[in-house]
Amino acid sequence: MTRRSLLAIGFIVARSLFLDAQMPAQENIAQGMKDAYKDYFMVGVAVNQRNISVPEQQALLLQEFNSITAENDMKPGPTEPQEGVYRWEKADAIANFCRENGLKMRGHCLMWHNQTCRWMYEDNPDKEVFLARMRSHIHAVVSRYKDVVYCWDVVNEALTDDAMAEDPYRQSPMYKIAGEDFIFKAFEYAREADPDALLFYNDYNECDPVKSQRMADMVKRMKKAGVPIDGIGMQGHYNIYSPTEKELEQAIRKFRKVVDHIHVTELDIRVNKDMGGNLRFSREGMEISDSTEQFLADQYARVFHVFRKYHKVIDCVTFWNLSDKDSWLGVRNYATPFDADYQPKRAYEYIVEKKAPLWPQPEKSDK
Ligand code: GLA
Repeated sequence: MTRRSLLAIGFIVARSLFLDAQMPAQENIAQGMKDAYKDYFMVGVAVNQRNISVPEQQALLLQEFNSITAENDMKPGPTEPQEGVYRWEKADAIANFCRENGLKMRGHCLMWHNQTCRWMYEDNPDKEVFLARMRSHIHAVVSRYKDVVYCWDVVNEALTDDAMAEDPYRQSPMYKIAGEDFIFKAFEYAREADPDALLFYNDYNECDPVKSQRMADMVKRMKKAGVPIDGIGMQGHYNIYSPTEKELEQAIRKFRKVVDHIHVTELDIRVNKDMGGNLRFSREGMEISDSTEQFLADQYARVFHVFRKYHKVIDCVTFWNLSDKDSWLGVRNYATPFDADYQPKRAYEYIVEKKAPLWPQPEKSDK
């Protein structure tokens, strides 16, 4: 060995010893949920304006999550309250937070019957006029955020919950004007506006066998008709009683037959018996007891166990709200892994440490 190569080796060894001394030990690096799940899927959260502006909340976002959804600020009504009148300030603030911090964004949502653009339909236009209005809205929003948004919930909640209904669709004003074209065309317009974004259909009660079948059947019809749909969003508004692991798996297995991408888009777990994405729940739950805290941690453990099992098709799991204080369900549903002071709860520990549930799932009883 020449003197020169000995010197070179000496330099490399000295440099790596120096660098080691500079680097914090692995266990000292802050590990959040996004790190714990880096081999499985992205971990996201829905945010409001406070979350992206209060420094402690910003820090929590950056530590725990690598995908962001705007809770309300990209929805149709807030972005275009009147035809051609755009309100971008709040959506821009969230998009800029993601741009500045290198976070990915899920776009939510382009068409929905709530928080919607009433001007699109309230003068009862014919189908052509309605579709042209819808196209112009979709193009405006999707084009504005195409550098930062990697996927869109294109249509939200267009299927009915009425298990007996012959028509699988929700009888919304949009559906009454344009039939299922309101859904199919929305996807075409979104693809025109951003050919690179993944396009999702998003709905709740997705573990109900009738609803999940309707979702899968609709996606099949869309694919047959050449509609560009890439994924299914399972909202994931659950409770401690259901779904069971088996029910959740059955829904995922049904969906993975028809799409290559599943996102859990709005995960929260209530400590009462209500479910779904509609507002038939009580904001006043019980005080959380130690056993309820355990039931909550156990149910989070169960659903994450299933999500890990299906990580090949699940790309992202998004929590609906940063903490119990931000939860749309109110503080007393205790629905998120962080309490009203933004401190991690037992559920958080069960998720990050991938723990098994301690107790069997409680049974729903009306007594
Ligand atoms: C639905 C919507 C979400 C949100 C929740 C409740 O699930 O998709 O955007 O509004 O309801 O907050």
